[in-house]
Amino acid sequence: MNILIQNGTIVTAEATIQADILTKDGKISDIGANIIIPADAITINASGKYVIPGAVDPHVHMQLPTPAGPSSDNFLSGSIAALYGGTTTILDFVTPHKGQSLTDALELRKQEASNALTDYSFHVSPVEWRSSTEDEIKECISRGITSFKVYLAYKNTVGLKDHDLFKVLKVVGKTGGLVTVHCEMGDEIDLMRNKFVSENKTGPEFHALSRPAIFEADAVRNVIDMAKLAHCPVYIVHVSSHLSLKHIAEAQKSGQAVFAETCPHYLLLDDSVYKGDFSHIAKYVISPPLRKKEDQQALWDAVSDGTVKTAGTDHCPFNLEQKAAGIDDFRNIPNGAGGVEHRLALMFTYGVLTNKITLNQWVDLCSAQPANIFGLKTKGNIAVGSDADIVIWNPDFENTISVNNHYQNCDLEIFEGFKTKGLAETVIKNGNIVIENGELIVSSETGVFLRR
Ligand code: URP
Ligand code: ZN
Ligand code: ZN
Repeated sequence: MNILIQNGTIVTAEATIQADILTKDGKISDIGANIIIPADAITINASGKYVIPGAVDPHVHMQLPTPAGPSSDNFLSGSIAALYGGTTTILDFVTPHKGQSLTDALELRKQEASNALTDYSFHVSPVEWRSSTEDEIKECISRGITSFKVYLAYKNTVGLKDHDLFKVLKVVGKTGGLVTVHCEMGDEIDLMRNKFVSENKTGPEFHALSRPAIFEADAVRNVIDMAKLAHCPVYIVHVSSHLSLKHIAEAQKSGQAVFAETCPHYLLLDDSVYKGDFSHIAKYVISPPLRKKEDQQALWDAVSDGTVKTAGTDHCPFNLEQKAAGIDDFRNIPNGAGGVEHRLALMFTYGVLTNKITLNQWVDLCSAQPANIFGLKTKGNIAVGSDADIVIWNPDFENTISVNNHYQNCDLEIFEGFKTKGLAETVIKNGNIVIENGELIVSSETGVFLRR
């Protein structure tokens, strides 16, 4: 299918221009004024619309295994929600069981993801250090993985011991990859969690109270120091607090390769939600927890001045029934919430339309930087030779986010009632229309694993 998109306003991370786009065999083949319509091309009139690169979500967890069952979106349902929101590429995770090799876990995860309708890749998580881990990391790199994820929280499950983080940083640094880190001091958090429960403080509000911002910031500082010694670039996922930003900005100023991601929920929600009954609070049980209004402001400033490079979603929804696993003990509430569907609309409405970021920064945060940082060379841009992953964005469309109208497979919605503007009216992936007039084309082809 060849497509000619006419009369739109193309927005990339660098520029905003009026021009037409021609796609051919899954790639963007021409950009310019008055492109002659090829005989076999479908034409789309994008007058009054923005034409942006298909967005890249650098942080999602589809069907993440937990004791309360897998996160409720599988790769098919989650990728459909992503497409509805204008996201055409997702980066998920490979999380091996203890004793399982990184490479075996990678191959299994590729199978699990094979019905995704977006394109996909993974960050691979060493959850322990074994004599074979160095070789496994190198083998993952030769199989197209360039980024590895370490959890410093969740010490009793996937969390890596602090001294093993240094080993991962050294190996990945030597091989030219990137380590992404969930920065929270897991041992200290576990002490606080256990203390609360021993005092009969078992309600969901104690989740946030056991994870203060200083535990995130100290972990960030530690990781930055270790990464410097190990000569390894690091990417701090889901930064939520102004205390962490201080360490990140200092390291960046000194020239160290430190990237930071935040998420719409840290920009738009605060800890005032941790009041009410179990079902209300439990939907906001995420890690790190939501912070203060001052943190939101600091995060917007950091997004605007470039300290924070990407907006990911950390999409990890759980149904209320799953959250109820922790009704008597907040430590058993699965951590996470959905978001893959709403990232572009939220960042457009509450970022661009309130003048906190420009249109180009919107595209940079949601598409170009995730693609650049994670080595997706043909994604995140509208340029001749790039993949024909294109979103025609109707800026006038109005929506109110609700569990009743979202496509995410979850009966909870942390952005319930948020009004948004903008719709991914047409979504083109690898040269095929997958969303037309805001509706999924059911015969859409599956996405592909992206070797990086
Ligand atoms: O609460 C969260 N963020 N759950 C997903 C796993 C993680 O920590 O990223
Ligand atoms: Zn995390
Ligand atoms: Zn996550």
